[in-house]
Amino acid sequence: MPSFRVETPQHCYSAIVERGIIGHAAQYLPTHTGKVFVVSTEDVWRHQGAALARGLTGIPHEVLYLPGGENRKRLAPLEQLAEEMVRRGGDRSSMVIAFGGGIVNDMAGFLAAIFMRGIPVLQVPTTLLAQVDAAIGGKTGVNLVSGKNLIGSFHQPLAVLIDPAVLETLPEREYRSGLYEVIKAGIIREPELFHFLTEHCEDVLNRTPDAIDRIIADSVRMKAEVVSTDEREGDLRRILNFGHTFGHALEAETGYTRFLHGEAVEWGMRAAVYLSELTGHLSAEDSVEILETLQLYGPIPPLDGIPAGNLFARLVHDKKTLQGKVHFVLAVRIGEVTVVSGIDEKLVLEAIRSALV
Ligand code: GLY
Repeated sequence: MPSFRVETPQHCYSAIVERGIIGHAAQYLPTHTGKVFVVSTEDVWRHQGAALARGLTGIPHEVLYLPGGENRKRLAPLEQLAEEMVRRGGDRSSMVIAFGGGIVNDMAGFLAAIFMRGIPVLQVPTTLLAQVDAAIGGKTGVNLVSGKNLIGSFHQPLAVLIDPAVLETLPEREYRSGLYEVIKAGIIREPELFHFLTEHCEDVLNRTPDAIDRIIADSVRMKAEVVSTDEREGDLRRILNFGHTFGHALEAETGYTRFLHGEAVEWGMRAAVYLSELTGHLSAEDSVEILETLQLYGPIPPLDGIPAGNLFARLVHDKKTLQGKVHFVLAVRIGEVTVVSGIDEKLVLEAIRSALV
């Protein structure tokens, strides 16, 4: 099974895609590590904990729980966990294993980044969304009331262990939420992946192992390449935000409870496609093809009663907004995007309205 190198100035590591790798987690711990803290949620640990516990046979470890849910992705639970780590003898030689979906990867990664000014983290993602995106690339953080991921840090992991077998028990809605990030990977840089998703929708939705392994490997390779080129989102990494600026506004506007992250990104990608077409960056033909592919993997929950004006106002608070200028990632063709700012506000509102229908 494939392994992809992520090479950043901070740290170089592998993102390994391998069925059953969770059962060998101990191999990826540093030889002289101190206390090992597994940070998970009660739900993930109930369903997948036995596999990781087997993988850590002979390695003493403590399991700590985060509350789960995007609306509880806040600083307060991390302070409680840090206190608990100190109570249980955690020190600068300790390490964290982040075991869960994207929220756990972000929060546990941030906990590792700030505990005693930084301890190592091993990322073990258990949802598709986390496997293809959140766990790779070192972005960690929590939400503020004013917006998503507004506190955080770059903290690259020791390694990312991606076990596609854990997806067999993932709830359907969570699985599809992750598929939207895979579609994003196709739109921004992987046209072959995009066409695979269009042509093999049934295999992908039925979680056929060959199809799952392929879409994960392609997405992870792409993400590893992008992060290795630009760790801190100064340039190329911005393309990974396709659909996210709009999507974050939708999540914040609906209190982080109505849409899963991937679902908000699905909506955000539709808004971005409309805007790409309205601004003359994308042909009508490619626009239709993208929208139809998104539809194959839909629908997301209803968008009723969400005012376009409120979403528009929230774009300004996104952390991708620089000196008051919102930067949009727009599609140029399937497999290529560009970053544009200074777009006429009327067009942005029109794109938001079209995507809300
Ligand atoms: N999820 C976008 C990034 O990692 O840059």
